[in-house]
Amino acid sequence: MPSLVRVDDPADPRLRDYTDLTDVALRRVREPAEGLFLAEGEKVVLRALHAGYAPRSVLTEAKWLPGIEGALAAHDCPVYLADADLLRTVTGYRVHRGALASMQRRALPSLDDLLATARRVVVLEDLVDHTNVGAVFRNAAALGIDAVLVSPECADPLYRRSVKVSMGAVFAVPWSRADPWPGTLDLLRDKGFRTLAMSPDPSGGSLRDADLAPPVAVVLGTEGEGLTAAALARCSAKVRIPMAAGVDSLNVAAASAVVFYAVGTGLQA
Ligand SMILES: C[S@@+](CC[C@H](N)C(=O)[O-])C[C@H]1O[C@@H](n2cnc3c(N)ncnc32)[C@H](O)[C@@H]1O
Repeated sequence: MPSLVRVDDPADPRLRDYTDLTDVALRRVREPAEGLFLAEGEKVVLRALHAGYAPRSVLTEAKWLPGIEGALAAHDCPVYLADADLLRTVTGYRVHRGALASMQRRALPSLDDLLATARRVVVLEDLVDHTNVGAVFRNAAALGIDAVLVSPECADPLYRRSVKVSMGAVFAVPWSRADPWPGTLDLLRDKGFRTLAMSPDPSGGSLRDADLAPPVAVVLGTEGEGLTAAALARCSAKVRIPMAAGVDSLNVAAASAVVFYAVGTGLQA
């Protein structure tokens, strides 16, 4: 059973997991190093708990407790009850729907384990924007992608913003780090995956003509420069989503939705 603890001092050391949440540079280092991530809002907290993540603690306004206490019943963790002002002072912002949970990270699956059953995979190279990472996971969950691999430099799928934008899809779609990079692309090829380098470059073949039959890996590049030359050189084909004249590229999450729909529904089969 969780223990309810009322807190009224923003400097209370027990609230350390929740401090400086607006300092992205600090939190993106601290959270993986300390083995935690944050779930925000009742729905996302419940999805993390249902996915089997263990809570380290919860920080919430009392009015949001009824929505999450049932799912917390099996966990022996402190639930800190605070008013809205204290929450804002500790975290640095107005917390969405008043509930935050600090969750324990789990070891990521090995690539061999992940790829043993996955047939449709997405690979993200060095995305920097947590919103895009979360949106790609949400699209992957909705459109039939079995697993996500993120390059070592790619933004953290368990960062608060990614988790929130994904609506908890980061808990539902199996994922791991594509380490070594770009060597993981060779591993995918060796395991029989067709690796599709997604690029708006006109020299690529149209998505309409691409062979999307599984096992297939969709490889998406970073927001500014797109895929690196090293990644492109390792892929089996360069694939372009046709666009209207005068448009340079799609946002990476938008591009992911288009190609996942084609791959996931077997449009080409
Ligand atoms: C904003 S784009 C990067 C644009 C960059 N100038 C380039 O040439 O790739 C980010 C990623 O979205 C995907 N993407 C965007 N538009 C695309 C399109 N029309 N066809 C295929 N992939 C696209 C690619 O994977 C790209 O690396």
